[in-house]
Amino acid sequence: MSTAPRRPDAPPGGRKPVTIPHLAELKSQGQPIVMVTAYDFPSAQVAEEAEVDVVLVGDTAAMTVLGYESTVPVSMDEMVMLASAVRRGARTPLVVGDLPFGSYQASSELAVASAVRYMKEAGCDAVKMEMAGVSGGVADKRESVARARAVVAAGIPVMGHVGLTPQSASALGGYRTQGRTMEQAVQVADDALALQDAGCFAVVFEAVPAAVTEVIMERMRIPVIGIGAGPATDGQVLVFHDMLGLHEGRSPRFVKAFAEAKDVMVEGMRAYADEVRDGRFPAEEHTYSIDPGELERFREVIAPGKPWDAADFMA
Ligand code: KIV
Repeated sequence: MSTAPRRPDAPPGGRKPVTIPHLAELKSQGQPIVMVTAYDFPSAQVAEEAEVDVVLVGDTAAMTVLGYESTVPVSMDEMVMLASAVRRGARTPLVVGDLPFGSYQASSELAVASAVRYMKEAGCDAVKMEMAGVSGGVADKRESVARARAVVAAGIPVMGHVGLTPQSASALGGYRTQGRTMEQAVQVADDALALQDAGCFAVVFEAVPAAVTEVIMERMRIPVIGIGAGPATDGQVLVFHDMLGLHEGRSPRFVKAFAEAKDVMVEGMRAYADEVRDGRFPAEEHTYSIDPGELERFREVIAPGKPWDAADFMA
């Protein structure tokens, strides 16, 4: 019998599980697709309850939940563990596992093997992979497309990622907006169209001028999900911690915090610390009771000076 996690049943009476054809339908109907990142069971449950369409287990997990400096160090093992937890919490959204740096670049065989892990071990519905950075040269881009094509050919749905691709930040000269010159805009368009031709079911545009996105959209048949790419895309994605105000430090221009969850959390934890320190917590309602007769018997057997042999009283 297979031990692979399967997509949990959708909540009774709730929405139908989101599928890839459903995303294509949303695009054709002009209905925006809502995507967020999640990295564990509770964040996935929040996405489930908020009725988002797609949950990306992003390699931003490296920074948001694992405390690395960039996305580069996170491993496939770490990502699979996080994705399994997300799958258990996200019953309705489509769950996409982000292929981390080093899990697909070296060969198409490696790309397929890593993508298979997301599907078999974590129960993901699809994977995402970044296009190699612009300064990587034309040959690198062909290789990126070949990786996407190989994973699609293995029967695994692939979401591409173009524009600012953080795994190639070093090759791109930092976390910079992509497509600000005609030549760069051509690169972004060429990447997106190549991934579309390779059979990707969707593509993320990151940090691309809104006007450039709008022009490229005229050629996109698959759903485009934007992050810092303006309003012309078929949907939007934001990082869980950015969107809910759990992020430390400066955020990119495209981030909007829709809540200040960190403030709420710190306030709650301070209140807990204060109540523990001044003896208000735990109160009676947080405490278990015992029958007074049983307590009296217990006091007798444990009374100081009595010989102690717990075995006399244990079954
Ligand atoms: O890893 C991630 O969170 C992403 C999104 C920013 C699209 O790739």
